[in-house]
Amino acid sequence: MVEEVESPAPVTGGGPAGGLGHDWMALDGPGAVPIADVLADGCRPHATGIGEVDRVLGGGLVPGSVTLVGGEPGIGKSTLLIQVLASVAVRGGRCLLVTAEESATQVRLRAERLGIATAAGLWIVAETELSRVAAHVAEVTPTHVVLDSIQTVFDAALEAAPGSVAQVRHCTSRVVRMAKQRAMATVLVGHVTKDGSLAGPRVLEHAVDTVLAFEGDRHHALRLLRAVKHRYGAVGELGLFEMVGTGLVGVPDAAGLFLADRREGVPGSAVVAALEGRRPLLVEVQALVTPTRTSFPKRSAEGLDAGRLDLLLAVLKERVGLDLSSSDVYALAAGGVRVAEPAADLALALAVASALTGTPVPPDVVACGEIGLGGEVRQAGQVERRLTEAARLGFRRAVLPTSSPDPPTGMAAVRVGTLREAVAALHLGP
Ligand code: TYD
Ligand code: MG
Repeated sequence: MVEEVESPAPVTGGGPAGGLGHDWMALDGPGAVPIADVLADGCRPHATGIGEVDRVLGGGLVPGSVTLVGGEPGIGKSTLLIQVLASVAVRGGRCLLVTAEESATQVRLRAERLGIATAAGLWIVAETELSRVAAHVAEVTPTHVVLDSIQTVFDAALEAAPGSVAQVRHCTSRVVRMAKQRAMATVLVGHVTKDGSLAGPRVLEHAVDTVLAFEGDRHHALRLLRAVKHRYGAVGELGLFEMVGTGLVGVPDAAGLFLADRREGVPGSAVVAALEGRRPLLVEVQALVTPTRTSFPKRSAEGLDAGRLDLLLAVLKERVGLDLSSSDVYALAAGGVRVAEPAADLALALAVASALTGTPVPPDVVACGEIGLGGEVRQAGQVERRLTEAARLGFRRAVLPTSSPDPPTGMAAVRVGTLREAVAALHLGP
């Protein structure tokens, strides 16, 4: 619980609180216009030049927009954003990085490692006090501003402590107003706490135009950028980066990325043609089944939906006759990626059946389908897109529900109506 002390609102006669008098209804701004007459020219995205960022944003940053980039400490937010600013600067933008956590020297040293220390048009200032930040913005007149981070800036006029919900919320609304007035693309960095919520900044997701989540496993070099909210385009698009010694490098051709270390012919493995946004990813789903030693069999799902695993185990028992009630089941999506969509059901169920019976799924088989409680296999969305990518990567057979469209040339369909049929078709049956 955080105590919030609100300063009393100024008392004015005319506002909505002042009653529904005639003055209140008087029109003093521009009136309503037909939607076709609304000018949208200022709202077109400007490419940042960092391909994966532009992909997630649906083209780039919009002038006057405010974007919140959230992620755990150390994941690479500062690295990503200085790379974005340097790239925008090279393309003729005027960029200001307000660093409220690191000194200008530290930023400069990082920029040297990234090979962007000489970028013209990139200005740095180490500042934490909001009115001084505003003064720097007024002096530099940038087209792009990054504030790193929103939790460490504060307004001295407000009594609340820096980093408190009241400060963070107040500073954000000030920054949003500044961004709109000056039509500058503004990016705020927000640290996320362990439970996945933006500490404090969660409360400001509604105040900004776009919320990006920067994620990844510290033990893997892979970093994922997604839009959680986007007022200027679609969400769900995925950007992929690799953290290397010289910063973040985009991974434009990622479809086969997670299959690199796959061992063929091992039971308990099946490949799903997953979709992240519009981007197909082939992901190996693995399962390991081992006799349980307690009265509560263990279920573990890493990178997969745990509830979905339970559901599929129940379907395997009741509809297929594969009983796992005295087995521990471990399941994971290989490579540190997360596949939460129901289209992965079929691959997960097949991986479990394969692990249980010790029969491998052939390496050229890809699976794609959702499983219902009746054991029926249902169609996943955008099957063509998924299978085209799978075919390109050398998969020759696709296990699909009867209703799915035909796979691309060079790939054969193994049509199944139920999970039982799928298990039988791959000879994984009981
Ligand atoms: P940073 O951008 O400071 O993270 P955040 O701002 O999200 O807290 O990046 C931190 C990590 O990134 C740091 O532990 C080291 C690693 N890193 C690299 O591996 N290569 C690089 O070129 C850079 C700059 C950082
Ligand atoms: Mg940082």
